[in-house]
Amino acid sequence: MPFIKKSFITEKLLPNVAIEKLINNYVQLKKAGSNYTCCCPFHHEKTPSFSVTPSKQMFYCFGCKEHGNVIDFVMKYKNLGFVEAVEEVAQFAGIEVEYDKSSSHSKDEYDRLKEYYDLMDRCASLFSSYLKSPEGQVGYNYFRKSRGLSDETIQKCRLGFAPANPRYLQDALCKNPGDEKKLIDLGLLVQGQYGVHAMYRNRVMIPIFDKRGRIISFGGRTMGDDKPKYMNTKETAIYRKRQELFGLYESLLVNNNRPQRLVVVEGYMDVISVRQAGCSYAVASLGTATTPEQIQTMFRYTDKIVFCYDGDSAGRNAAWHALQTITPIMQEGKEISFVFLPPEHDPDSLVREKGLDAFVKFLDDAMSYPEFLVLHNSQSFNLQDPNELSVFINNSIKLIAQIPLSAVQMVCIKLLSGPSGISENQLYDMLKDNKETVKTPKSEDKRSVDNTSIEIKSGSKDILKTPMRKLMAFIVQQPIVVSSVYHEFALDTFVALCKRMNISGSEHLEGILQLITENPEMTPANFIEITRGTEYEKTVRYLMDAPLNLVTTTGGEIPFKDRIDYFAVILGEVLMKPLKDRAEALKIQLSQGNSNALEEHGAIQRIIRNNLG
Ligand code: UTP
Ligand code: MN
Repeated sequence: MPFIKKSFITEKLLPNVAIEKLINNYVQLKKAGSNYTCCCPFHHEKTPSFSVTPSKQMFYCFGCKEHGNVIDFVMKYKNLGFVEAVEEVAQFAGIEVEYDKSSSHSKDEYDRLKEYYDLMDRCASLFSSYLKSPEGQVGYNYFRKSRGLSDETIQKCRLGFAPANPRYLQDALCKNPGDEKKLIDLGLLVQGQYGVHAMYRNRVMIPIFDKRGRIISFGGRTMGDDKPKYMNTKETAIYRKRQELFGLYESLLVNNNRPQRLVVVEGYMDVISVRQAGCSYAVASLGTATTPEQIQTMFRYTDKIVFCYDGDSAGRNAAWHALQTITPIMQEGKEISFVFLPPEHDPDSLVREKGLDAFVKFLDDAMSYPEFLVLHNSQSFNLQDPNELSVFINNSIKLIAQIPLSAVQMVCIKLLSGPSGISENQLYDMLKDNKETVKTPKSEDKRSVDNTSIEIKSGSKDILKTPMRKLMAFIVQQPIVVSSVYHEFALDTFVALCKRMNISGSEHLEGILQLITENPEMTPANFIEITRGTEYEKTVRYLMDAPLNLVTTTGGEIPFKDRIDYFAVILGEVLMKPLKDRAEALKIQLSQGNSNALEEHGAIQRIIRNNLG
């Protein structure tokens, strides 16, 4: 991972990106006072609770509590890593990213990965050129005639051909020492008994893109009946097959990152073929069963996943496997369904024979998750046999107990009551017993376990329960107000006093104020950036959204001057009681002739005068 200069982000990037413009690029924002709103892209909702505040350069959802600056938005919306998100935001702003050259290790790593991506791209271009060569004619004919692909599809998917000569890659691409090693790392060359040779020979080549459109691996298909039918690239530094989905990049690109649904089909050629027919939302896993990682990725972008399998028993088994994978990670507002094509078809043959509409009709008539759960199970047993019936019920209940959504559980129970002949109430009792023994973590429970400070998540009321927290919330939300009066309000002295009086939170307060003195132009968005990955991040993030009521009735922010007054009041609240207690004590010391107390007493008096009016 490359390292990006923090100062680049806070001084160049964030100040030059209007958050409302960036977000509007992905979702349709509506102006509401000085803010913007829309339905939250991070959870399912019908009325808008997602809000963007330009003055803070932050977004916040009152429903699901997602929040952050532009980088957070892009990370969440596009499911990107931090560096990728910064690169994307920079691209949006037309600014070149400044990497941290001093962190040489990470820079090396970044260069290495970049070389890998470039090399994969050159390989794809090489395969494409072979496809147009006389030797590749056989591959071209295979795609055109046997698979019915158009020239446009061949070009768009960057399909290619790998020749038979085992040294074609070295001959074409290995100009410098080290090139061969890189191609070995990437899985395109392999070390065999008689030397290093090309992994893919005499095969048609299908490049696999990551979700940013970089080529990360290849699938190579034989044009005949020899085995294996497909050869896949091994896992490499840039290719994690459990994470990636074939076709996802194109589905996101065509549908502005928000496909109405994603349909999971079994094969590479299925994706390519239905796409050519006009279905822009098909993906396939890469030679493995669908993984939880892939499902989570899909959930990021869409609310509907349709698993589409062949109608044979292998297809049913694959679908059942997918159901088991998805059950514990189901999410509210997400719709899962299953389609079984007639046994003689796969999506590719179906669209080629019957057209896109026939395929889409199958998708529209998909079987719901609860139906499939109950039905599939019931078909595996002879329900007339009491022994098998009880196994069927047990199996079903065990699975239903894992569903993290009670409404879906209820529907499954309702459906199960039919074929099992057991009343819903009795099935509920079983479910309850099962849950007690299985102790399935509910999604809510998981969240609170993940979050070490449970207090933080347990409702926004508690966030501001002490004046100190209110103060810190104000500081992170209004850093410009704070820096404008930093000296006037003698904030250094203020902190020193808080520490001396052992007011809880003083250490954190000091840290946070320090960030302001180091960055006088601080914005809330910058606060998030500067504390990302530090001990302060969590505090800053949850205080960022605490309701301080700094808004007017029309939704705008109250005037700057009023915010200064507000700040003075909270400062007072933090110190009021402890300070007055301290002043009393010092007064007694002074009266007893202890002149050491004089300076502190003076400071306290000044602060009381300045801040408490
Ligand atoms: P299928 O054998 O069902 O093939 O493999 P398909 O996609 O319909 O292939 P065509 O139409 O005959 O070309 C489904 C998927 O399983 C993986 C590939 O990802 C393939 O697309 N697979 C299959 C392999 O990885 N290796 C194999 O040898 C076969
Ligand atoms: Mn096929």
